[in-house]
Amino acid sequence: MLFFTSELKAQQTFTAAKNQFELNGKPFVIRAAELHYPRIPKEYWEHRIQMCKAMGMNTICIYLFWNLHEQQQGVYDFSGQNDVAAFVKLVQKNGMYCIVRPGPYVCAEWDMGGLPWWLLKKDDIQVRTIQDEFFMQSAAAYLKKAGEQLAFLQIQKGGNIIMVQVENEYGVWGNDGTYMSKIRDLLRSSGFDKVQLFRCDWASNFDRYKVDDVASTLNFGAGANIEEQFKKFKTFNPDAPLMCSEYWTGWFDQWGRPHETRGVESFLGSLKDMMDRKISFSLYMAHGGTSFGQWSGANAPPYAPTVSSYDYDAPINESGQPTEKFYAIRNLLGNYLNEGETMAPLPEAKSELITIPAIHFKKKAILSENTGTPKLSIDPKPMEYFDQGWGRILYRIELPASSVERTLKIDDVHDYAVIHLDNKYIGKLDRRFNETSVRLPAFQKSAQLDILVETTGRVNYGKAIIDRKGINGKVYLNEGGTDKELRNWKVYNFPVDAGFQEKLKYENLKGTGPGWYKAEFTLKKTADTYLDMRGWGKGMVWINGQNLGRYWKIGPTQTMFVPGTWLKKGTNTIIVFDLDSHANPVVNGITNPIFEMVSDSSLLHRKEGETLNLADVKPVAEGSFVNEPGWKEVKFPGTVRGRYFCLEALSAQSPSDPVTSLAELEIMDQHGKAVSAINWKVLYADSEEVIASGSSADKIFDLQESIIWQTQKSGKTPAHPHTVVIDMGENVTVSGFRALPRTDKSKSGIIKEYRFYLQEKQFDIK
Ligand code: GLA
Repeated sequence: MLFFTSELKAQQTFTAAKNQFELNGKPFVIRAAELHYPRIPKEYWEHRIQMCKAMGMNTICIYLFWNLHEQQQGVYDFSGQNDVAAFVKLVQKNGMYCIVRPGPYVCAEWDMGGLPWWLLKKDDIQVRTIQDEFFMQSAAAYLKKAGEQLAFLQIQKGGNIIMVQVENEYGVWGNDGTYMSKIRDLLRSSGFDKVQLFRCDWASNFDRYKVDDVASTLNFGAGANIEEQFKKFKTFNPDAPLMCSEYWTGWFDQWGRPHETRGVESFLGSLKDMMDRKISFSLYMAHGGTSFGQWSGANAPPYAPTVSSYDYDAPINESGQPTEKFYAIRNLLGNYLNEGETMAPLPEAKSELITIPAIHFKKKAILSENTGTPKLSIDPKPMEYFDQGWGRILYRIELPASSVERTLKIDDVHDYAVIHLDNKYIGKLDRRFNETSVRLPAFQKSAQLDILVETTGRVNYGKAIIDRKGINGKVYLNEGGTDKELRNWKVYNFPVDAGFQEKLKYENLKGTGPGWYKAEFTLKKTADTYLDMRGWGKGMVWINGQNLGRYWKIGPTQTMFVPGTWLKKGTNTIIVFDLDSHANPVVNGITNPIFEMVSDSSLLHRKEGETLNLADVKPVAEGSFVNEPGWKEVKFPGTVRGRYFCLEALSAQSPSDPVTSLAELEIMDQHGKAVSAINWKVLYADSEEVIASGSSADKIFDLQESIIWQTQKSGKTPAHPHTVVIDMGENVTVSGFRALPRTDKSKSGIIKEYRFYLQEKQFDIK
């Protein structure tokens, strides 16, 4: 059954007209569902599209992922799983329209936000700017290829693409309208010559730049106050049709942090508010799927890598099943169809998930015995300089004997280093906690130092996106207070492609140390399953040559989605790379994912019993915020220098509310410009909600306005005052600060009275 009264016809029109979108001259409310073709096995594409249609959608919205299609510079792949044109045609076959978002930057919790890693081989690379010719030329070449694949599917040419997006949330990054205009022109000259173009931003930053002939939309999350979101937008764009181009159905998970969910009720309330106002929307994500392989990204600051599951608490879950949210949306949208539309039935249910009995691993390839030929390098450079995109890299050097303990210091590890001396485990450095040194024991004879660096996702958001992997900087040996730089390294590369893992020397289980475990298992029946990775440490899994992604014992995800279509009747092969050693390694398949088991004790920024003493400190500013949404600015009478600051909330806007919440906080330099928060570190927060939601204090500088710091709400609710102390890493001349209260409908914890402290020395925290 088709969604529309007639087949999609050749040569239609779609425009952002006065106050409404128009399809063939008639008003049209877009109800779009975002799906990402690489996050869904090709064999499941059509099922997921039909599920979106059955949820009440008339459009599918997609990103294009530049770094998926051009993994090596100049070598493009749009075949098989990467055949995006085949995906868009499937959408058309199912009577739906398509919105395409080719980037070149896409964010999406995807490695480097979709930008290719090989850009990082250029020392001084700048991205998302016309200042860098290499970036612009590379982006132009890619957009040309994107046009070759998809431009013929513009609605004006008989296809189903109604809109194409220029870049992505550029207002969060910069204000250079010339860059945005250039990307617009490149899209046009790549063949997207007729289609309606648009750009997306936030209510707080859409006015930071200008680009002509491009419609404008806003992004925001579940529970948003719709009137508030579009208030300022309407004054700037009084005649524009309104659209929420990313209405966040849930949120992504980060390693070591609690599982994110968004309740059905508040999500649905704002969706209804939009429908009542005929506001178009796109559900981000309708179905998230899985960031297979090396593709999951990271946020920063602070560095927080994203897990491989992209379930997103979306209405269609990771394995493609409808959830409570799905049915709630379907029920609601039935009341809001455009003229001529009918509700589609649910596609045939997919087969049940299967269990796989315990698979015991009997073979191992020990990393230290599978190093291959080294590359020689004076400095321990990042892996991009050794032509490696993802995976693991080993830096090896011979250390002279010493009768005393010494400290090994590594400037900047991206992202997790395991240190061995003569194959004996010494310690680890985790970038999430800015760890930079380990103690080395005394040893009699010279010994082999191995620094194995395991990478997680490249930052996909904000200025930390230039995120080279491996060691960024220098390595020192500190003896008796003096740093000695270590030079002349042997470097070994362990990339992620399946062929590499298969060719290693597997032997009967023996020895310790990081390595690959291999096993075969037999199946009579194939269907989706979740691998239960509890008991393993940190690494990656390949089944029958398909890279399932990353796992890490700290959670919150403890399982990995295995699409049944990648399994075989008969013999299957599984390879697991793990940083930890296992005597009796085993894995099995289960039917329910485990998404919420965090086993990391490091979420809070206050040690048990610790307090902050502000008795002797004079605030540099104090006052009361007005009870209105939007950024609040506090200017000091003059400038003050300091490295450490503390924000103290004395009361909330609702008199008896004990909670404090805050979305963002910016520190302004002497010119009134926001200081970079890339190196900020939370030293203390009296209270943080890290169980019911991921609302730790570092969320006030994560650049995500919808993600907030909240004091504890689950269990005991501590009373005011609430304090957060931040180390900016260096002294800064400060002229004031800006604070953004939460932007959703809830009023909980919005700060009224405050004090602000800033000083060059550390605060008294004991
Ligand atoms: C933004 C980006 C998306 C995605 C979401 C969060 O809106 O545009 O690509 O990163 O945030 O999931």
